[in-house]
Amino acid sequence: MRILLTILVLYSILWTCTSLQETGSFLHITDVFWRRRNDSCAKNLDECVKHSLNRLLQKSKEYHPSFVMWSCAGGRRAPTVIKLMKEVFKDMMILPALPPVKLPASKKNLAYYRNISNYFGNWLDNEARKTFWKTGYYTRFLKTPKDLQVIVLNTAFFCSFHVLSELDDPAGQWTWLVLELMKAKRMNKKVYLLMSATPDAFNISNDRTFVAKHYDRYINVVQTFSDVIKGQFGGYEDAEKFHLITDKAGNNV
Ligand SMILES: *[C@@H]1O[C@H](CO)[C@@H](O)[C@H](O)[C@H]1NC(C)=O
Ligand SMILES: *[C@@H]1O[C@H](CO)[C@@H](O)[C@H](O)[C@H]1NC(C)=O
Ligand SMILES: *[C@@H]1O[C@H](CO)[C@@H](O)[C@H](O)[C@H]1NC(C)=O
Repeated sequence: MRILLTILVLYSILWTCTSLQETGSFLHITDVFWRRRNDSCAKNLDECVKHSLNRLLQKSKEYHPSFVMWSCAGGRRAPTVIKLMKEVFKDMMILPALPPVKLPASKKNLAYYRNISNYFGNWLDNEARKTFWKTGYYTRFLKTPKDLQVIVLNTAFFCSFHVLSELDDPAGQWTWLVLELMKAKRMNKKVYLLMSATPDAFNISNDRTFVAKHYDRYINVVQTFSDVIKGQFGGYEDAEKFHLITDKAGNNV
């Protein structure tokens, strides 16, 4: 009997920002997951996964992205996916954002961050590991384009499933974010925000969406630093959406 399994890469979006000359092009992979389906290569699942993903990544590479952002980086097949990405993208900068996972009570967040960071390897530098090992969020400065900084949030803290979402500043992430944005502004950096769970997921109200106070704060931060933040990227819900945020006067920011 054939096992019916196939790979589904939910949606991977290639952004080619020709209008932002200094930005070049980059790849944003929003989620990678596997869905049971009719497929003949399912005898050896690992091989099947590798084969399909490899095809997709090789195709993406043809666009010559200068860096790769990956929302929902982790999950059950993380070791396979990470290994393959390293093979395909070699020395390219890859920025992983953790998915909004609920750890079993027996598991500690600190161990989870440390463990997954071992798989990420040099995707995190020493500076990034300092915050990542404690909280799962971090920032990295890009070499190309050199004035770009990517701030990778752990938005799980803002979603109602997470016990810390009740706090005003869970895991100190708001304080940290605002400080990073102030520094970026002083240093004339442009910032991309990368995350997994997004602030407003299609008016879907589930426990993986932002609670109201964190939603409001997010909008407020983006409005306040609209001259610094040039893009916001996330991916968790199975749908596509572009969202423009306006300032209080109604101008796009
Ligand atoms: C699986 O897909 C193939 C090709 O698309 C098709 O010919 C076959 O009937 C399908 N098998 C099942 C069990 O759906
Ligand atoms: C470490 O992370 C990998 C990849 O997500 C996972 O497969 C493994 O079970 C984790 N190990 C521990 C001890 O948490
Ligand atoms: C989302 O929900 C808000 C509040 O319930 C409502 O005002 C708004 O029109 C909804 N937006 C969409 C796109 O459905």
